[in-house]
Amino acid sequence: MSERLYLYPVWLRVWHAINALSILTLIVTGISLQYSDVNFEMFKFDISVAIHNAAGIIVSINFLYFLISNFVTGNIKFYYIEMKGLGNRLIKQAHYYAFGMFKGESTPFPISKDRKFNPLQKVTYVLYMFLIVPALIISGLALLFPEFIIPHFFGFSTIQLTALTHASSGFLISVFLIIHVYISTTGKPIISNFKGIITGYHE
Ligand code: HEM
Repeated sequence: MSERLYLYPVWLRVWHAINALSILTLIVTGISLQYSDVNFEMFKFDISVAIHNAAGIIVSINFLYFLISNFVTGNIKFYYIEMKGLGNRLIKQAHYYAFGMFKGESTPFPISKDRKFNPLQKVTYVLYMFLIVPALIISGLALLFPEFIIPHFFGFSTIQLTALTHASSGFLISVFLIIHVYISTTGKPIISNFKGIITGYHE
Protein backbone atom coordinates (compact mmCIF):
# COMPACT_ATOMS: atom_id res chain seq x y z
CA MET A 1 0.00 0.00 0.00
CA SER A 2 1.35 3.49 -0.87
CA GLU A 3 2.27 5.94 1.90
CA ARG A 4 -0.24 8.65 2.85
CA LEU A 5 1.49 12.04 2.84
CA TYR A 6 0.05 15.25 4.25
CA LEU A 7 1.32 17.72 1.61
CA TYR A 8 -1.37 20.39 1.33
CA PRO A 9 -2.08 22.07 4.69
CA VAL A 10 -5.34 23.95 5.25
CA TRP A 11 -3.89 27.43 4.50
CA LEU A 12 -2.62 26.16 1.12
CA ARG A 13 -5.93 24.53 0.21
CA VAL A 14 -7.82 27.71 1.11
CA TRP A 15 -5.40 29.77 -1.01
CA HIS A 16 -5.67 27.31 -3.90
CA ALA A 17 -9.48 27.15 -3.88
CA ILE A 18 -9.86 30.96 -3.78
CA ASN A 19 -7.17 31.35 -6.43
CA ALA A 20 -8.64 28.74 -8.79
CA LEU A 21 -12.18 30.17 -8.57
CA SER A 22 -11.04 33.79 -8.90
CA ILE A 23 -8.71 33.05 -11.83
CA LEU A 24 -11.50 31.16 -13.62
CA THR A 25 -13.77 34.19 -13.05
CA LEU A 26 -11.03 36.49 -14.38
CA ILE A 27 -10.59 34.37 -17.49
CA VAL A 28 -14.31 34.28 -18.32
CA THR A 29 -14.91 38.00 -17.66
CA GLY A 30 -11.54 38.89 -19.26
CA ILE A 31 -12.51 37.10 -22.50
CA SER A 32 -15.89 38.84 -22.39
CA LEU A 33 -14.17 42.26 -22.04
CA GLN A 34 -11.46 41.55 -24.63
CA TYR A 35 -13.95 40.56 -27.32
CA SER A 36 -16.86 42.82 -26.41
CA ASP A 37 -18.40 44.66 -29.32
CA VAL A 38 -21.40 46.99 -29.68
CA ASN A 39 -23.20 44.20 -31.55
CA PHE A 40 -22.11 41.38 -29.25
CA GLU A 41 -21.59 41.17 -25.53
CA MET A 42 -20.89 37.81 -23.85
CA PHE A 43 -21.91 39.46 -20.55
CA LYS A 44 -23.00 43.06 -19.97
CA PHE A 45 -19.85 45.19 -20.23
CA ASP A 46 -20.19 47.12 -16.96
CA ILE A 47 -21.09 43.95 -15.03
CA SER A 48 -18.04 42.17 -16.50
CA VAL A 49 -15.82 45.13 -15.50
CA ALA A 50 -17.16 45.11 -11.91
CA ILE A 51 -16.75 41.33 -11.49
CA HIS A 52 -13.31 41.35 -13.18
CA ASN A 53 -12.08 44.15 -10.88
CA ALA A 54 -13.42 42.43 -7.74
CA ALA A 55 -11.89 39.05 -8.71
CA GLY A 56 -8.60 40.82 -9.54
CA ILE A 57 -8.45 42.39 -6.07
CA ILE A 58 -9.21 39.01 -4.47
CA VAL A 59 -6.43 37.31 -6.50
CA SER A 60 -3.99 40.09 -5.49
CA ILE A 61 -4.72 39.87 -1.74
CA ASN A 62 -4.75 36.08 -1.95
CA PHE A 63 -1.36 36.17 -3.69
CA LEU A 64 0.12 38.19 -0.80
CA TYR A 65 -1.33 35.57 1.55
CA PHE A 66 0.31 32.82 -0.58
CA LEU A 67 3.70 34.55 -0.48
CA ILE A 68 3.70 35.27 3.25
CA SER A 69 2.36 31.82 4.20
CA ASN A 70 4.96 30.09 2.01
CA PHE A 71 7.80 31.75 3.91
CA VAL A 72 6.17 31.48 7.35
CA THR A 73 5.34 27.76 7.01
CA GLY A 74 8.44 26.71 5.06
CA ASN A 75 6.38 25.45 2.09
CA ILE A 76 8.69 27.64 -0.04
CA LYS A 77 11.36 24.91 0.23
CA PHE A 78 9.43 22.89 -2.37
CA TYR A 79 10.01 25.72 -4.87
CA TYR A 80 13.81 25.87 -4.62
CA ILE A 81 15.38 24.78 -7.90
CA GLU A 82 18.66 22.87 -7.85
CA MET A 83 20.34 24.06 -11.06
CA LYS A 84 22.92 21.24 -11.23
CA GLY A 85 21.59 18.56 -13.58
CA LEU A 86 18.30 20.43 -14.07
CA GLY A 87 18.32 19.99 -17.88
CA ASN A 88 18.59 16.19 -17.58
CA ARG A 89 15.87 16.02 -14.95
CA LEU A 90 13.53 18.12 -17.11
CA ILE A 91 14.17 15.88 -20.12
CA LYS A 92 13.54 12.75 -18.03
CA GLN A 93 10.23 14.11 -16.75
CA ALA A 94 9.16 15.37 -20.21
CA HIS A 95 10.01 11.94 -21.65
CA TYR A 96 7.83 10.32 -18.99
CA TYR A 97 4.88 12.63 -19.77
CA ALA A 98 5.29 12.14 -23.54
CA PHE A 99 5.96 8.37 -23.65
CA GLY A 100 6.68 6.59 -20.36
CA MET A 101 3.33 7.12 -18.69
CA PHE A 102 1.50 5.73 -21.73
CA LYS A 103 3.64 2.57 -21.51
CA GLY A 104 2.87 2.08 -17.83
CA GLU A 105 6.36 3.09 -16.66
CA SER A 106 6.63 4.46 -13.16
CA THR A 107 7.26 8.15 -12.59
CA PRO A 108 10.99 9.07 -12.50
CA PHE A 109 10.49 11.49 -9.56
CA PRO A 110 7.94 9.97 -7.19
CA ILE A 111 6.32 12.28 -4.64
CA SER A 112 7.75 12.09 -1.14
CA LYS A 113 7.54 14.29 1.95
CA ASP A 114 10.65 16.13 0.72
CA ARG A 115 9.73 16.22 -2.98
CA LYS A 116 6.21 17.47 -3.61
CA PHE A 117 6.82 18.53 -7.22
CA ASN A 118 8.57 16.83 -10.14
CA PRO A 119 11.20 19.02 -11.91
CA LEU A 120 8.85 20.21 -14.69
CA GLN A 121 6.14 21.07 -12.20
CA LYS A 122 8.62 22.93 -10.01
CA VAL A 123 10.03 25.07 -12.84
CA THR A 124 6.51 25.81 -14.12
CA TYR A 125 5.18 26.74 -10.67
CA VAL A 126 8.17 29.01 -9.99
CA LEU A 127 7.83 30.70 -13.39
CA TYR A 128 4.12 31.28 -12.90
CA MET A 129 3.87 32.03 -9.18
CA PHE A 130 6.91 34.33 -9.07
CA LEU A 131 6.87 35.94 -12.52
CA ILE A 132 3.71 35.62 -14.57
CA VAL A 133 1.07 35.88 -11.81
CA PRO A 134 2.89 38.94 -10.32
CA ALA A 135 3.05 40.46 -13.85
CA LEU A 136 -0.71 39.89 -14.18
CA ILE A 137 -1.40 41.44 -10.78
CA ILE A 138 0.90 44.47 -11.17
CA SER A 139 -0.37 45.26 -14.68
CA GLY A 140 -3.99 44.75 -13.53
CA LEU A 141 -3.57 47.11 -10.57
CA ALA A 142 -1.87 49.63 -12.85
CA LEU A 143 -4.85 49.50 -15.23
CA LEU A 144 -7.24 49.85 -12.30
CA PHE A 145 -5.39 52.94 -11.06
CA PRO A 146 -4.04 54.44 -14.33
CA GLU A 147 -3.38 57.82 -12.65
CA PHE A 148 -0.25 56.20 -11.16
CA ILE A 149 1.14 55.15 -14.54
CA ILE A 150 3.77 57.39 -16.15
CA PRO A 151 2.12 58.12 -19.56
CA HIS A 152 5.19 57.46 -21.74
CA PHE A 153 8.29 55.31 -21.53
CA PHE A 154 10.98 55.83 -24.21
CA GLY A 155 8.31 57.22 -26.52
CA PHE A 156 5.91 54.27 -26.04
CA SER A 157 2.44 54.61 -24.52
CA THR A 158 2.84 52.99 -21.10
CA ILE A 159 -0.90 52.31 -20.85
CA GLN A 160 -0.67 50.26 -24.04
CA LEU A 161 2.42 48.38 -22.79
CA THR A 162 0.62 47.68 -19.49
CA ALA A 163 -2.50 46.47 -21.31
CA LEU A 164 -0.33 44.24 -23.50
CA THR A 165 1.45 42.79 -20.43
CA HIS A 166 -1.92 42.19 -18.77
CA ALA A 167 -3.50 40.45 -21.78
CA SER A 168 -0.37 38.35 -22.45
CA SER A 169 0.04 37.21 -18.85
CA GLY A 170 -3.70 36.44 -18.72
CA PHE A 171 -3.35 34.37 -21.89
CA LEU A 172 -0.30 32.49 -20.50
CA ILE A 173 -2.19 31.74 -17.27
CA SER A 174 -5.14 30.37 -19.28
CA VAL A 175 -2.72 28.04 -21.11
CA PHE A 176 -1.13 27.07 -17.76
CA LEU A 177 -4.55 26.23 -16.32
CA ILE A 178 -5.41 23.83 -19.15
CA ILE A 179 -2.05 22.02 -18.86
CA HIS A 180 -2.15 22.12 -15.03
CA VAL A 181 -5.55 20.44 -14.92
CA TYR A 182 -4.50 17.88 -17.56
CA ILE A 183 -1.27 17.04 -15.68
CA SER A 184 -3.32 16.74 -12.48
CA THR A 185 -5.23 13.89 -14.13
CA THR A 186 -2.02 11.85 -14.56
CA GLY A 187 -2.10 10.65 -10.95
CA LYS A 188 -2.94 7.04 -10.13
CA PRO A 189 -5.91 6.73 -9.93
CA ILE A 190 -6.89 9.64 -12.15
CA ILE A 191 -8.57 11.65 -9.36
CA SER A 192 -5.84 11.17 -6.74
CA ASN A 193 -4.21 14.61 -7.25
CA PHE A 194 -7.60 16.37 -7.14
CA LYS A 195 -8.41 14.50 -3.93
CA GLY A 196 -5.03 15.62 -2.54
CA ILE A 197 -5.62 19.34 -3.06
CA ILE A 198 -9.05 18.97 -1.38
CA THR A 199 -8.26 16.62 1.55
CA GLY A 200 -4.60 17.64 2.01
CA TYR A 201 -3.35 14.04 1.67
CA HIS A 202 -1.45 12.60 -1.26
CA GLU A 203 -2.03 8.84 -1.56
C1 HEM B 1 -9.74 24.47 -12.01
C2 HEM B 1 -8.67 24.97 -11.46
C3 HEM B 1 -7.54 24.18 -10.82
C4 HEM B 1 -7.43 22.85 -10.51
C5 HEM B 1 -8.46 21.74 -10.76
C6 HEM B 1 -6.15 22.64 -9.89
C7 HEM B 1 -5.64 21.43 -9.43
C8 HEM B 1 -4.51 21.29 -8.65
C9 HEM B 1 -4.06 20.06 -8.06
C10 HEM B 1 -4.76 18.73 -8.23
C11 HEM B 1 -2.94 20.31 -7.35
C12 HEM B 1 -2.11 19.31 -6.52
C13 HEM B 1 -1.14 18.55 -7.36
C14 HEM B 1 -0.04 19.42 -7.91
O1 HEM B 1 0.78 19.97 -7.16
O2 HEM B 1 0.00 19.54 -9.15
C15 HEM B 1 -2.64 21.72 -7.52
C16 HEM B 1 -1.58 22.38 -6.95
C17 HEM B 1 -1.19 23.66 -7.28
N1 HEM B 1 -1.87 24.52 -8.11
FE1 HEM B 1 -3.66 24.20 -8.96
N2 HEM B 1 -5.50 23.84 -9.86
C18 HEM B 1 -6.29 24.81 -10.42
C19 HEM B 1 -5.99 26.14 -10.58
C20 HEM B 1 -4.76 26.71 -10.30
C21 HEM B 1 -4.37 28.05 -10.66
C22 HEM B 1 -5.27 29.05 -11.40
C23 HEM B 1 -3.10 28.22 -10.21
C24 HEM B 1 -2.18 29.42 -10.33
C25 HEM B 1 -2.32 30.39 -11.20
C26 HEM B 1 -2.69 26.99 -9.56
C27 HEM B 1 -1.46 26.80 -8.97
C28 HEM B 1 -1.13 25.68 -8.22
C29 HEM B 1 0.08 25.57 -7.43
C30 HEM B 1 1.18 26.61 -7.29
C31 HEM B 1 0.02 24.31 -6.80
C32 HEM B 1 1.06 23.74 -5.83
C33 HEM B 1 0.77 24.31 -4.43
C34 HEM B 1 1.72 23.77 -3.37
O3 HEM B 1 1.57 22.58 -3.02
O4 HEM B 1 2.62 24.53 -2.91
N3 HEM B 1 -3.72 26.10 -9.64
N4 HEM B 1 -3.61 22.29 -8.31
